[in-house]
Amino acid sequence: MTASPPPAEPTEPGPTTIESILVAASDETRAALRTLGELLGNAPTACPSPTLFACRHLGVDTVGLASTKFNGPGTALSLLGSLLGTEMARHGERVVVGSLGEGLPPTWGQLDLGPGAKLSIPSRMVVLFPAGTLAAAPLCIAVDDRNWSREFAILSTVADKPAAEGVLESFRDRLKTGENPLRGRVLEASLCDGSVRLGVAPPIEADRGGLILPDDVWAEIDIFLAAAGHRRDLMRRLGLGTSRGLLVAGPPGVGKTHLVRVIAAELAGRFTTILADANSMRHAIAELYAETESFGPTVVVLDDIDLVLAHRDGSGNNGTLADFLAALDGVHQREDILTIGTTNDPKSLDPAAQRASRFDVVITLPPPDAALRARLLGRYLGPLGAGIDLVTVAETLDGATGADIKEVVRRAVLEHGESFSQADLVRVADGGRWKANVVRRRYL
Ligand SMILES: Nc1ncnc2c1ncn2[C@@H]1O[C@H](COP(=O)(O)OP(=O)(O)O)[C@@H](O)[C@H]1O
Ligand SMILES: [Mg+2]
Repeated sequence: MTASPPPAEPTEPGPTTIESILVAASDETRAALRTLGELLGNAPTACPSPTLFACRHLGVDTVGLASTKFNGPGTALSLLGSLLGTEMARHGERVVVGSLGEGLPPTWGQLDLGPGAKLSIPSRMVVLFPAGTLAAAPLCIAVDDRNWSREFAILSTVADKPAAEGVLESFRDRLKTGENPLRGRVLEASLCDGSVRLGVAPPIEADRGGLILPDDVWAEIDIFLAAAGHRRDLMRRLGLGTSRGLLVAGPPGVGKTHLVRVIAAELAGRFTTILADANSMRHAIAELYAETESFGPTVVVLDDIDLVLAHRDGSGNNGTLADFLAALDGVHQREDILTIGTTNDPKSLDPAAQRASRFDVVITLPPPDAALRARLLGRYLGPLGAGIDLVTVAETLDGATGADIKEVVRRAVLEHGESFSQADLVRVADGGRWKANVVRRRYL
């Protein structure tokens, strides 16, 4: 077919590049150029850009070409790349692979799936899916994972753009199913070259048995989790929303981080867990929530948000806070996104961050009373507690948190080994040396 150039505007002609010549070239000219290239020692030329590759395979010129782009964040793009790889394998010999030009060969990259597991995914290439493979119409998919030219685009004829849009949408829906290799996992969000990076973390193992909290706290947690559990469908039906925010407050060492781990472990598998580090909370919260769109139900953990969202009286321009509020408000329009924040001091947070619609539930973990302290001693002493009156020892530990009691037991074991008396334990508790070791601001 002889492709006629688009009707020329009476304005300045664009610069003449090899690409512009090729677009307008007849088959004879292309053949002549190819022969020239071969004579000069090159392999027969692949098309020098995804656009030209698509023009050639779809039989249109650049004016007749449409591009349907995905404008999401990096991990979402890699995950779409993994589906591209799946479809390439499915259609085997029928697909045609081209390079992105610039002298680059088609390139495969790796998606990290945790220790020892990697998935090979197309990272820089353009692929033709002929008619009857991905869609009734022929489509080309271009993927580029380089930070500065990041792209996932479906190229089609203008007439077939609806088909391209349908394929992109179906790809995005498939990411919310088991076809997404990161779904249901524990992911750690950090910043890498200014963008959010989601790395696979080990599964969280924690259960309620190991965490000693007052019963009314557990009752509140259960109400919060009902939106993700047995009340989910009812909430949806009534239009009450299934995306919720929980803020866990309390002094250092009372078990806030531990509680978040327990909740994340209970939701594991059904929910993807994203643990945000301080940098990603501070600089890329919007991008972090944009990543959640590729996972279906997700729990976002913002541990120690007071480090990032401290209320700055009169300081005015708090960009992080504004981004954070916008991200949380946006999430409430969506389904199945749980946000769990922790803070040592809820008063240090800007009141706007706490407003009811942002964190639906604020749970304050109090320092344990005497009865809970006795249970905490029992929890950490295990069999070493036999024969010790834990209630009496607990009374000497007024003001101690769970972390403090764990430390008291640790010191007692370090000093006395496996066998110590109640008096030994009380001496350690009274000594107060454990106080300096309060665990502060530990990350998950
Ligand atoms: N109520 C509790 N029950 C059991 N262990 C606790 C409790 N509170 C704190 N701990 C233990 O103390 C340590 C610090 O707890 P953490 O959850 O990091 O405290 P926070 O996040 O409130 O500062 C952890 O090892 C945790 O298991
Ligand atoms: Mg903590």
